[in-house]
Amino acid sequence: MHAMTIKPILMHPDPRLKKICEPVTEFNKSLAELADDMLETMYDAPGIGLAGPQIGVMKRIFVIDCVKEDDVAPDPMVIINPEITHSSEELGVYEEGCLSIPNQFAEVTRPKIIRLKWQDLDGAEYEDEFDDLWSTCMQHEFDHLNGKLFIDYLKPLKRQMITRKMQKYKREQARG
Ligand code: NI
Repeated sequence: MHAMTIKPILMHPDPRLKKICEPVTEFNKSLAELADDMLETMYDAPGIGLAGPQIGVMKRIFVIDCVKEDDVAPDPMVIINPEITHSSEELGVYEEGCLSIPNQFAEVTRPKIIRLKWQDLDGAEYEDEFDDLWSTCMQHEFDHLNGKLFIDYLKPLKRQMITRKMQKYKREQARG
């Protein structure tokens, strides 16, 4: 049996967070183990989404669970090779954060509803519609697979301010 492992999360700025990830082509046991580790790492953080590149795996995979209420059962999803097939014209605004950019939050405007196509761990194909927080989070994680971060939607000054804070944070972490 595979013992789940909490992986270190890469912190912005890191060149691996700016790269376009490769499609997943092999739906095998090691992919299932990767998904287990990603879910464990996401819940431990804690966060509601985690994409492959955030743990240095440059593959088109992310995990997500936007259930926040304590009295609602967790709803973990593993999303592989996602494609956004439709985005609503109606927009929604959420305050976003990212496990690779801790303690920094900003409002981002995105399509309110999306249709997403993806594959599961067995390679089976799915398509479904997501709205509100699930839609926002799906789009945020999808962006990670294309080297895009939520701060890329902000005005340059605000983005630079967050990046400078993160550089300082990383220096402090490195000093321990
Ligand atoms: Ni993120």
